[in-house]
Amino acid sequence: MIEVSGLTKRYGQLMAVDNISFSIEKGDAFGFIGPNGAGKTTTIRMLATLLRPDAGTATINGYDIRYDHDQVRAAVGYMPDFFGVYEGMKAWEYLDFFASAYRVPAAKRPGLIRDVLELTDLTQKRDAYVEGLSRGMKQRLCLAKTIVHDPEVLLLDEPASGLDPRARIEIRELLKELCNMGKTILISSHILPELAPLCNKIGIIEQGKLIMVGSVDEISAQLEGGRQFRIKLRGRLEQAREFLLRRPDIAEVDIDDGALDALYRGEPDQEHQLLAALVREGFEVSSFSEQETDLESLYMRLTRGVVS
Ligand SMILES: Nc1ncnc2c1ncn2[C@@H]1O[C@H](COP(=O)(O)OP(=O)(O)OP(=O)(O)O)[C@@H](O)[C@H]1O
Ligand SMILES: [Mg+2]
Repeated sequence: MIEVSGLTKRYGQLMAVDNISFSIEKGDAFGFIGPNGAGKTTTIRMLATLLRPDAGTATINGYDIRYDHDQVRAAVGYMPDFFGVYEGMKAWEYLDFFASAYRVPAAKRPGLIRDVLELTDLTQKRDAYVEGLSRGMKQRLCLAKTIVHDPEVLLLDEPASGLDPRARIEIRELLKELCNMGKTILISSHILPELAPLCNKIGIIEQGKLIMVGSVDEISAQLEGGRQFRIKLRGRLEQAREFLLRRPDIAEVDIDDGALDALYRGEPDQEHQLLAALVREGFEVSSFSEQETDLESLYMRLTRGVVS
C-alpha cells in the first residue's frame, strides 16, 4: 500500500531524510519511531504530498507522491503534528468543511459526520465550538477530520502527543478500531512502548536514516542477541559492575536505579554461573532475575550513541 524507495530531503546542508526505503502492506499498522529531529515529520509530509522529495519517491496505492497529488490525497488521511482550529466553528461544521474540501457530496456528509463523531466519541460535542474543546477533544476532532473522507491510508504524526495518560489510551483504542476496520496506518511517535501494542511493524529512524525496520520480534532478533539480567546488590555496585565486565559472557553492564543491568551473552543454561561468581566474590546479591526484552530498553540500545 505504501512503497517508499530512496526518499531523501535536504534542508541546506542538513540531511533531514536520508535515502530511506520501506514498504507497508495493506492493513499494516506501521510505527514510525525516532527521537526529536529524526525526520519523522519530514517523511510524513512528503508522503502526504505537502513536501517535495529531493530524491527518491514513494507510491501510495500505486500512485506516485511526486506526480499524482490528487489521487494520493484522496487515498490518504493526514493528521499533522500541529493543527489549527478555526474560531467560531462548531465541531460538526469543522468536519463538514473538511468533508467538502475532500469533495464528499453534500448529501452524504451528515451521515458521515455522525459516524466519525460517534467513532471519536464526540457526539456530545457536535454543536460545541471547536476553540472551546479540551486539548484531547481537539486531537480527537482532528482525527475525525482525518478520516472523514474514508481514506484507505492514515498518516498520523504523533496523534497522542501532549495528552494525559487516559487520553493517550483512548486514542490508542481508537486507532486499534481503525486498524480493525482495515485501514493502513503509519503512525509516528518517539515512544516505542506506546506504539508497540498497536503496530505489527516498526521502523526506527534517527538522523534521517532508517536504522531498523521489521516486526518487534525481528528487531529483537536483529540485535546482537543477549539476555538482560537485573541484579540487585547490597552496596558495592560499581565494584560488581567492574567484576562482571571482566567476564567474557557479559557484554554490557549498566547501573540503574540501584541495580545492575547486565547483558549476558553466554551459554543459555549457564547463567547460574554468573550468580555463583558474584556470591563467591563476596557480593551480597539480594535478587537476580531475567528481564523481559522490554521495548524501551530495546529502543535505547538501538539508538544509543547515534543521537549524540
Ligand atoms: N522547514 C525546515 N527548514 C529547515 N530545517 C528543517 C525544516 N523542517 C525540519 N527541519 C530539520 O529537519 C530535521 C528533521 O525534522 P523533523 O521535523 O522531520 O523531525 P521529527 O522526527 O518530526 O522530530 P519531532 O519528534 O521533534 O517532531 C530536523 O533537524 C529539523 O531541524
Ligand atoms: Mg515531528
